[in-house]
Amino acid sequence: MCGIVAYIGKKEAYPIIVKGLKRLEYRGYDSAGIALLNNNGLNIYKKQGKVSNLEDFTHDKDKMGYAGIGHTRWATHGPPNDVNSHPHSSEDGDIALIHNGIIENYDAIKQRLTNNGYKFKSDTDTEVLTYLIDDIKKNSSVSVAEAVRLALQQVVGAYAIVVISKSNPNQLVAARKSSPLVLGIGKENDFYLASDATPIVEYTKKVVYMEDEEIAIVDLDEGLKLYSIDDVEKTPYVQELELQLEALEKGGYEHFMLKEIHEQPRSIKDCFRGRLNAEKGWVSLGGIKDYEDKMTKANRIIMIACGTSWHAGLVGEYLFEDLARINVEVEYASEFRYRNPIINENDIVIAISQSGETADTLAALELAKSKGATILGICNVVGSSISRITDAGSYTHAGPEIGVASTKAFTAQVTVLTLMALSLAKIKGTINETKFRTMLSELEAIPQKVQQILDKNEDIKIISEKYQGASNALYLGRGSSFPVALEGALKLKEISYIHAEGYPAAEMKHGPIALIDEAMPVFVIATSGPSYEKLVSNIQEVKARKGKLIAIVTEGDEQVHEIADHTIDIPDTDEHLVPLLATIPLQLLSYHIAVMRNCNVDQPRNLAKSVTVE
Ligand code: G6P
Repeated sequence: MCGIVAYIGKKEAYPIIVKGLKRLEYRGYDSAGIALLNNNGLNIYKKQGKVSNLEDFTHDKDKMGYAGIGHTRWATHGPPNDVNSHPHSSEDGDIALIHNGIIENYDAIKQRLTNNGYKFKSDTDTEVLTYLIDDIKKNSSVSVAEAVRLALQQVVGAYAIVVISKSNPNQLVAARKSSPLVLGIGKENDFYLASDATPIVEYTKKVVYMEDEEIAIVDLDEGLKLYSIDDVEKTPYVQELELQLEALEKGGYEHFMLKEIHEQPRSIKDCFRGRLNAEKGWVSLGGIKDYEDKMTKANRIIMIACGTSWHAGLVGEYLFEDLARINVEVEYASEFRYRNPIINENDIVIAISQSGETADTLAALELAKSKGATILGICNVVGSSISRITDAGSYTHAGPEIGVASTKAFTAQVTVLTLMALSLAKIKGTINETKFRTMLSELEAIPQKVQQILDKNEDIKIISEKYQGASNALYLGRGSSFPVALEGALKLKEISYIHAEGYPAAEMKHGPIALIDEAMPVFVIATSGPSYEKLVSNIQEVKARKGKLIAIVTEGDEQVHEIADHTIDIPDTDEHLVPLLATIPLQLLSYHIAVMRNCNVDQPRNLAKSVTVE
């Protein structure tokens, strides 16, 4: 949450920072701000709302600067307004600071500084940190970099910060703890800093992923120096970025979300590329190879995640239990970490996270690690914090996901979980060879079947039109289609602001059925399989209460066709793989409904893609 970008070098900083902020807007869009350093001083511009508001505001302003810092905010302390926007500056205007994270002990520090005569303008914890650095710099007569280091020693909480200063015009000082920060080393002794690599990729591929409690000083004369918070100099580990610029553009689609929905045939294929060969009958996830034996012997595997990734975990639970006969528990990371969970060295904890930065997931993982558990990760973002702290893991290879509502990352997570379950089942001998080979072939065919569903986009749009005015919606599924129902409901509420709930179809009778009337759309995943007949009964129950039924069915279905108001056919597949197909029409329905309601589908209100605060 909150995106930060900074630049120092020979180029003009403003266009680099503004472009970078737009790439990071998925992290929050309550306000945007920029501080630019040139030979006349330090100019700060900030505005409530999106980066485009900031651009309008600065169109007639002095935008010159060889160095600058920029911020796009997801509000934590204080409402979104101009004053609370970053950068925050010291009272004398010498230093300015951008921050992603939360300073938990800000109140105590604020009291102390207030007693020392400081007057605060904003409600933010960030201004407190800015004043603290200023106070230390003045009272201890130290450099800005040293004041930053000493200030951070007093701070409890999470931060990625960059500090710019008039009195120290050749340097930027950056630091991180629990919030991500990537440093790009340019070709002309110039430097970039950002919350992720997307603002950096078009200028340089040489990056350093900063570690917790590291402080970087980038200096026009002396280059990059890296220190620990205890002032021990460190050698930067420079890595080559693999990210491609095209992956960050809309590529002709109206929204990133639509592009990402349509990318799924490719992203699912990329996910199993080199990991599966149906013809030869093998599946192999190189990243977890050394841990598979332990996984097969584990008493239980705990999957921890948030949001959509938690839904993927629920699908994983069905797959692991049914195919590999391994006991799985799926936990919300935020609950798990504060529950004093019983974990020991025999446990395996798998974190599922698109961004690899979600604060609760990261903290839950650290807790499990401290208790001796083996910790594994399923992440999309290469080099992310979760992927770095885990013992091992498998990337989802879905490519950058920019739309705030997760789509292709979900299907890629489910694909990795399917591969894992199959691999473990094979090792344990809980799946017979015929079934194993059939499932591998079916999995290989999924991308093409996803494409067949995407080809029905226009029909799905017509159905969406009928429900764009709904106030509530219910999603039902059984077995591994229950998490798909949860995910369908989440997609609708996130981007269209229609209240939606996902339920196991049989549970409907224990509450939600009371809500059903002729105005209530009920989306049901009623594909063929062992629960089909039971689902048909549930569908009848909805129909008897005059609910509007939109059913996802298997091609060739006749029974549900007769009853439902609308049906969307999906190709037949193995029942374990249905989530990969049934999710697609639900994504498209939510997308179209949100567009018809004039909602900002890529940046829904109040949400952020990477939730780096608790
Ligand atoms: C936010 C995003 C969701 C995502 C969740 C978990 O709420 O808007 O799309 O599912 O965080 O994020 P992660 O990166 O850990 O998968």
